[in-house]
Amino acid sequence: MRPALKQAVDREWARKTTTPPDEGGDRRATNGTTTNGTTGNGAATHATDTNGAPPAATAPAAQDQTQRRRLSDFLLTEGMITTEQFGVVMAEQKRTNEKLPVLVVRMGLMTEDQMVDAQSRHYRIPFVVFPEGGIPPEILRLVPAAIALKHDVVPIGRSAGALTLAMVDPTNLSAVDDVAFRTGMRVFPVIARPSVIRQALDQFYEAQKASLANALSEAETEAGAVAGIEEQAPNPLDLRASADHAPVVKLVNMIIVEAIGRGASDIHLEPGERYLQVRFRVDGILQDVMTPAKRLEPALVSRIKIMANLDIAERRLPQDGRIKFRDASREMDFRVSVIPTLYGESVVLRLLDKSALKLDLTQLGFDTWSLEQFQTAIRSPHGMILVTGPTGSGKTTTLYSALQTVNTSEIHILTLEDPVEYNIPRVNQVQVNEEIGFGFATALRSFLRHDPDVILVGEMRDLDTAQVANRAALTGHLVLSTLHTNDAPSTVSRLMDMGIPPFLLGSSLRLIVAQRLARKICEDCREPYEADEADLVAHGLRPQGRGALVLSRGRGCPTCTFTGLKGRIALYEVLPIAGEIRELIARGADAGAIKKVARDLGMLTLRDAGLAKVLGGVTTLEEVLRVTAE
Ligand SMILES: Nc1ncnc2c1ncn2[C@@H]1O[C@H](COP(=O)(O)OP(=O)(O)O)[C@@H](O)[C@H]1O
Ligand SMILES: [Mg+2]
Ligand SMILES: [Zn+2]
Repeated sequence: MRPALKQAVDREWARKTTTPPDEGGDRRATNGTTTNGTTGNGAATHATDTNGAPPAATAPAAQDQTQRRRLSDFLLTEGMITTEQFGVVMAEQKRTNEKLPVLVVRMGLMTEDQMVDAQSRHYRIPFVVFPEGGIPPEILRLVPAAIALKHDVVPIGRSAGALTLAMVDPTNLSAVDDVAFRTGMRVFPVIARPSVIRQALDQFYEAQKASLANALSEAETEAGAVAGIEEQAPNPLDLRASADHAPVVKLVNMIIVEAIGRGASDIHLEPGERYLQVRFRVDGILQDVMTPAKRLEPALVSRIKIMANLDIAERRLPQDGRIKFRDASREMDFRVSVIPTLYGESVVLRLLDKSALKLDLTQLGFDTWSLEQFQTAIRSPHGMILVTGPTGSGKTTTLYSALQTVNTSEIHILTLEDPVEYNIPRVNQVQVNEEIGFGFATALRSFLRHDPDVILVGEMRDLDTAQVANRAALTGHLVLSTLHTNDAPSTVSRLMDMGIPPFLLGSSLRLIVAQRLARKICEDCREPYEADEADLVAHGLRPQGRGALVLSRGRGCPTCTFTGLKGRIALYEVLPIAGEIRELIARGADAGAIKKVARDLGMLTLRDAGLAKVLGGVTTLEEVLRVTAE
C-alpha cells in the first residue's frame, strides 16, 4: 500500500478506536492529535501496524481486499496455511462470500483458537476471554440488541468512559463507529472466540429482542383461533376464554414487566380505529411501545379487568380497580382505570411503586435557601402551607416528605385524601367519600374535634374546604394542602377569588411552594459543551458577567432510550409569608406586586430555580423551558 494511503488508514483506525483505559486511558486520537493536545501516534498502539500492514482500509470493498490479502499473507508467512490450501479457500470464498477467518476455520484448516490467536497477533488487538460469572447486565445494556446482533459484537467491560467491545470481526470499523455513536463512549476493540461471542449474543440480546415482540406475534397469531373475539359484542364467556388464553396472559405480563424495567409510571392501552396503541409514561413523558392488532383488544382489556377484579361484561361504563402484580422477583401495585371511548375501552395502569417514593426533603431538588424556608415553615405550630402545580408535578411527594420530616411521637398527624396514595406509619390517613356526604369540608370539621397538630388536606377544591382549612390554620393547627395554580404569588389571588378575605389570608398563610419536575441529564451519556451566559440570560438568568460557560447535556444512550435525559428532580419556587409580604397580602395586593417584592427578598422563581440547575449541570435549558413556560 502507498505510504500516504497507509497513513490515512492508520489515522482512520486511530480515530475510531482507543487505547485500553488502563494503558494510558484518556487519550483519544483524532486525526493524529489526541484530545489533550499532544500528537497521537502513540495513542493507538495496538491498532497501528508499524510493519506496514494496516488492519483495514476505508471503503468496505477495499477493506475486504486488504483484510484478505493481509491476514492471508500473515497466515501464509507464519505457515499456518499452505499456498494450495489458500487457493482452495479463495475458490470457496467466491462461491459463498464468507469472510476468510470464518472460512478457514469452517474448512478445518485451523482451529478457532488458532485463528483468534493469529488475528490477535496480526492486528495487534488483545485477545480476551469473557469475564467469569458472566458480563454484568448494566454493561450489556449499554449496547442496544439491534446493534450488537447486526455487528456480532458484545460489550464486556467499561472504565473511564471507554467501552471494551468483543468483536468477531475486529476490522469492522463501522461497528466501532456505531457503538461509539450509540453509547457516547470511546470504544476499545478486543477479539474473542466467535463461538463465545455468538453464544453471548444468543443468550442476552436475542432473548431480549425477542421477548416482547415474540409475545405479541404469538398472541396475534393465536388470537384468531379463539372464538368470538372478532365480534362487535362478544359474550362474557368468550371474553373470559380469550383473556385466559396463554399467549394473552403472557403478553399482558410482559408488557407490565417491560414497563417496570423501563421505570414507567403509567401503562396506556389506547384503542384506535384499526389498532391498539400501547404507551408507557417515563419521567412524565409518553413513549410508544407497540401497536397490537385490533382483534387482540377485547382479550387484552378483559385480561386486565380480570386481574383487577373488574366486570368484563361491562364495556360501556368507566371502571376503577387495583392489581397486585407478582413475578419471581417483586410485588407491585397498580391502580387501573378503564373508560369507554369511541373506538373501544381505554385502559391506564398507574404503577404505585412505594420504593420509588423518596420521602427525603433534602433529595427532592430544593436549593439551600428554599429548603431552609420550607424546613422552618413545616415546624411552625400553626398556619397554612400550600403546594401548587399541575397534576404530576410532585406536590404529594413534597407534602409526604414534609410529614415524614415532622412525624414524631409528639405530634398527631391527620390526612384527608382522595384517594389515599401511600400509607405512612403513625399517620392517621382518611379517605374522603363524597358519595356518602363525607367530603373535604365535612371531614375537616370533624378533624378539628380530633385533636390534630398537623392536618394534610389533599386539595383545596372549593371555598367551603378553603374556609375550614383557614380557620384550622388560625386556631393552632399546621395545615398543609395543594392547589392548581401557576406560581406561588398567584396562589394568593386564587384564594381571594375563591372568596377568602385578604386579611384572613394575611394571617393564616405561612408559606407557598410552586413546583415542577424537570428531567435530569442521563449520567451514562452526559457530556460537557461550551455555551455562553447570554444563552441563559435570554431566558431570564440574572447576568453576572460570566461570559463563556461549560454546560452539560446527554448525548443519548440505551440507558435513557436515546433522550439524553433520565430521572427527574423538582424545581421549587418558595414564597415565605412574613413581614412585607404579609402586609401586601392583607392589603389585597396583586400577584405581580407580591412577586416583585418576593424576588427582592430572595425568592427564586420556577425559572430561576431551573436555570440554576442548568448552570449546575443537572438538567438542560430546553427541559427547563419546557416545564416553566411563562
Ligand atoms: N422531587 C422529585 N424528584 C423525582 N421524582 C419525583 C419528585 N417528586 C415526585 N416525583 C415523582 O413524580 C410523580 C408524580 O408525583 P406526585 O407527588 O404524585 O405529583 P402530584 O401530587 O403533583 O400529582 C411520582 O411518580 C413521583 O414519584
Ligand atoms: Mg398528588
Ligand atoms: Zn443516556
